[in-house]
Amino acid sequence: MDGKTVNACLTLALEAQGKDIMTIEGLAQNGKLHPLQQAFIDHFAVQCGFCTPGMILSAKALLDKNPHPTEEEVRKGIAGNLCRCTGYTKIVEAILAVGGK
Ligand code: FES
Repeated sequence: MDGKTVNACLTLALEAQGKDIMTIEGLAQNGKLHPLQQAFIDHFAVQCGFCTPGMILSAKALLDKNPHPTEEEVRKGIAGNLCRCTGYTKIVEAILAVGGK
């Protein structure tokens, strides 16, 4: 929301009024996946996909602020997003492939 990640389930609709809202559906442009979306596919960082929107949007917010994060910064950037499938390694690799040092 307005370039910052928020928990949709903890955000009142009134708080979102008049704000710029980006969701996973808005990342692809003209039918072309965002580089993070493609990297998640290329690095097998998606299994059930439940966590994927939050992971990718958190990664985008991180890379917008810090285009070349370290692995530690990536792990901190996606903290709070729980994945029960991948073990996080593939997710971190995908994000680093797009913007890592
Ligand atoms: S891919 Fe299943 S919870 Fe992350």
